[in-house]
Amino acid sequence: MTSVTSLTAHVQQRLADALSAARPQADADPLLRRSDRADFQANGILALAKQSRANPRELAAEVVGHIVTGDVIADVEVSGPGFLNITVADRAITANLAARHADGERLGVPLKRDAGITVVDYAQPNVAKEMHVGHLRSAVIGDALRGMLDFTGETTIGRHHIGDWGTQFGMLIQYLFEHPGELAPAAEVDGEQAMSNLNRVYKASRAVFDTDEEFKERARKRVVALQSGDKETLELWQQFVDESKVYFSSVFEKLDMEIRDEEIVGESAYNEGMPETARLLEEKGVAVRSEGALVVFFDDIRGKDDQPVPLIVQKADGGFGYAASDLTAIRNRVLDLHATTLLYVVDVRQSLHFRMVFETARRAGWLNDGVTAHNMGYGTVLGADGKPFKTREGETVRLEDLLDEAVQRAAGVVREKARDLTEDEIRERAAQVGIGAVKYADLSTSPNRDYKFDLDQMVSLNGDTSVYLQYAYARIQSILRKAGDTGPLAHPELELHPAERALGLHLDAFGDTVFEAAAEYAPHRLAAYLYQLASLYTSFYDKCPVLKAETPEQVENRLFLCDLTARTLHRGMALLGIRTPERL
Ligand code: ARG
Repeated sequence: MTSVTSLTAHVQQRLADALSAARPQADADPLLRRSDRADFQANGILALAKQSRANPRELAAEVVGHIVTGDVIADVEVSGPGFLNITVADRAITANLAARHADGERLGVPLKRDAGITVVDYAQPNVAKEMHVGHLRSAVIGDALRGMLDFTGETTIGRHHIGDWGTQFGMLIQYLFEHPGELAPAAEVDGEQAMSNLNRVYKASRAVFDTDEEFKERARKRVVALQSGDKETLELWQQFVDESKVYFSSVFEKLDMEIRDEEIVGESAYNEGMPETARLLEEKGVAVRSEGALVVFFDDIRGKDDQPVPLIVQKADGGFGYAASDLTAIRNRVLDLHATTLLYVVDVRQSLHFRMVFETARRAGWLNDGVTAHNMGYGTVLGADGKPFKTREGETVRLEDLLDEAVQRAAGVVREKARDLTEDEIRERAAQVGIGAVKYADLSTSPNRDYKFDLDQMVSLNGDTSVYLQYAYARIQSILRKAGDTGPLAHPELELHPAERALGLHLDAFGDTVFEAAAEYAPHRLAAYLYQLASLYTSFYDKCPVLKAETPEQVENRLFLCDLTARTLHRGMALLGIRTPERL
């Protein structure tokens, strides 16, 4: 593995050196950015001139004198009030890309030096309940963030904090106790059967619970039995968990997402540690008793009538809830897993919960300066009409129905384009296109914004969609196939067309983009990069004949640009969890 320093970083360094050569005392940032005028523009001279009371244009000219040119930088010009327009040498562009091309999977992208351990809490559905679009977002965003973080060299540990505990299980378990055999053994059902069994048991138990006072009482006692660890009760509870896991994994499989069993660590996993969490909080004076409950107060968190809203660690009846399990999970993640970052991909509507949980953990010393906790709170999924996503009957939309429909629409698109594909191939591609479309639509909007679930738009071939990117990739593959024996080969001595330069400079920025997007937890920045990559490729392809280029060297060099574009698209999409079929 040989990592490649990006051209941006090179130019940045050259400019920083020139600035400090011109004004050794000052500490100035060149403020470099990509520009339409030249390849890069640096605006930092203005601030430096102010600092050192110099005429900006004169200072700029002086700085130019200190810039080493001839290899990476071909030309520097002073423009406007004292900007620098910088042009990179064609040779440097091609040589840099060639080094990326030679590096294989990592495309020359370095691993970060100060890598830490990030525990990513994502894809956390609830036992005995249908998954909804909110769970889809958490899974898709969490998976993409993990892909990006891993690529930078960070160690990630997944935690699927599934809702597998709570008083609601009293009713379900009691019903199953009284109607044994209502849940088929988990080993014998597929995802769909599992969910329909769970739904049936849920409805039936609910019906008795709502009408039969004696059952209600028995269900209440069952909660106590569950909490005290009664063996038979736990066995019945386990059946619900196992049946649900069959269902979850069928959905994750449909989503083309790998979920590891050892990372499914639900709320119940922290049961044993919760009494200690409560004890420690009380001992440290972080939590106090209030009307029998153990709670934490916050000066700045108040509800109606300016009443303080406390975080409830333990209820007056001794029961522990959501907050206690999250606090105990923090102890585990920081003290046992040695996390340096805790990342939660959870609906923004839970952000108050996390604010209180983090603050409590900080007061208790479980979160300290060495650990960052962040809730990547995502927005709501809206229907095409801009209202919260519901079926026509006003019910929540079933996740699998949605995914199935996306795949079906994609099959339409694939079939239209397919000339020589078999039915099996169409089915396979349709899954990759449809699921990719759903993921991309989610990932290409900033996570904290609400986003519209609009299938027509998602599977469209035009515009900022995954299908557009997948087509760009497949088209390149077809060119590479057509090239036959002529392979991609870099020729740094060749002069580049402006469209080649634009594509090349963008390809070079892949690593920098992934690093920035990962650091900001912003998959949409990577998505935007990939979309621009496909657009730049399209204009390169329009303007620069590849197989019919003038000389054999130029054919090879353009095939090389094609190949690197394809590999960058493939890698970038893979980081987002999206496939790039070889043919479409
Ligand atoms: N199961 C919860 C829900 O469906 C999400 C869990 C989020 N993670 C956490 N550590 N609280 O709303």
